[in-house]
Amino acid sequence: MTIAVTGATGQLGRLVIDALISRGAAPGEIVAAVRDTTKAAELAARGVQVREADYNRPETLTSAFAGVDRLLLISGNEVGKRLPQHTAVVSAAQAAGVGFLAYTSILRADTSTVGLAPEHKASEEVIASSGIPYAFLRNGWYTENYGASFGSALSTGAFVGSSGEGRIAAATRADYAEAAAAVLLSGEPGVYELGGDAFTMAELAAEVSRQTGTPVVYRDLPVAEYQAILVSAGLPEGYAGLLADTDLKIVDGELDTDSDDLPRLIGRPVTPLPDAVAALLKN
Ligand SMILES: NC(=O)c1ccc[n+]([C@@H]2O[C@H](COP(=O)([O-])OP(=O)(O)OC[C@H]3O[C@@H](n4cnc5c(N)ncnc54)[C@H](OP(=O)(O)O)[C@@H]3O)[C@@H](O)[C@H]2O)c1
Repeated sequence: MTIAVTGATGQLGRLVIDALISRGAAPGEIVAAVRDTTKAAELAARGVQVREADYNRPETLTSAFAGVDRLLLISGNEVGKRLPQHTAVVSAAQAAGVGFLAYTSILRADTSTVGLAPEHKASEEVIASSGIPYAFLRNGWYTENYGASFGSALSTGAFVGSSGEGRIAAATRADYAEAAAAVLLSGEPGVYELGGDAFTMAELAAEVSRQTGTPVVYRDLPVAEYQAILVSAGLPEGYAGLLADTDLKIVDGELDTDSDDLPRLIGRPVTPLPDAVAALLKN
C-alpha cells in the first residue's frame, strides 16, 4: 500500500511521515509529495519516495499521485488561495485513482464562524463530491501557535490577546500528526473533530509563570488594539485582522471542543499542556 503526504516538508507533514514510520509503514511505501524536492533530502535519505507536487502546478500533481492508494492533503498556507489549490489536488487524486483522501481542516468547518473556516468548508465540499472515500481531520489550534509569543510574554510580563476567558482546545502538531497517520493507516472514512485539553490564555500564562518562575499574566485587549500589536510585530494587516477576529470567536467557544476523537485516534491521552509548554520553552 502506498501512502502520500502533501506538504511533507512542512512542520506538520514531517511529523506525519515520522508517525507513519513509527506506526509501522515502510519508508519505501510512503510518498513525500512536496513543492520543493531540494527540501526533502533528509526524507529521501530515510528511504521515503520524494515526488514534486505543487498545488499551483496541476501538471505535477497527477504524476505525483501515480500508484498512490491513500493521500493526505495538508491544507496549504496561502490563505485566500487555497480553494483552487486544494481543488487541483482533488482532481489529480481522482485522475490517479487514489482510493482514500484525508484532509486537514478546522474544527466544525461546516458551521464555524472563524474567518479561516470558509476555505476549509469549501475544500471539504469539493472532496465530498469527488467520490473518493474521505476523512476530514478537523484540527483545532496548534499549541505551538503560542510559542512565538513566549519571548515577548516573558520580557513584558504579559500575553496579550482578545480571547477573554474563551477556552482553546489546542494540541501539539505531533499529536495531530499521529492522528493523521492513524487515519491513513486505517483508511477509515469519517469526520474527526480534533483537539486537546482546553485552556484559557490566563491558564497558559500561569503555566508559563510556574515553569519559568517569571510572573506572566494574560492581558485582554480591545480587538483593534490587539490587531495593531500583531501588525507592529510584522504580520500583514489582513492576516492580523483574521487572527484578531479569531480571538473574538474563541470567546464564543469556536476553538473549543469536547470531542475525544484525538485521544481515541492516537490511542493515548493528548500531550498535557505542561509538557507542551516545557517543549516550547526549550526552543
Ligand atoms: N491548526 C492550526 O493551528 C494551524 C496553524 C497554522 C496553519 N495551519 C494549517 O495547517 C497546515 C499545516 O501546518 P504546518 O504547521 O505544517 O504549516 P507549514 O509548516 O507552513 O507547512 C505548510 C506546507 O504546505 C506546503 N505548501 C504551501 N504551498 C504549497 C503549494 N503551492 N504546493 C505544495 N505545497 C505547498 C509548504 O511547502 P514548503 O515546505 O515548500 O514551504 C509546507 O510544506 C498549514 O498549511 C495551514 O493550512 C493550521
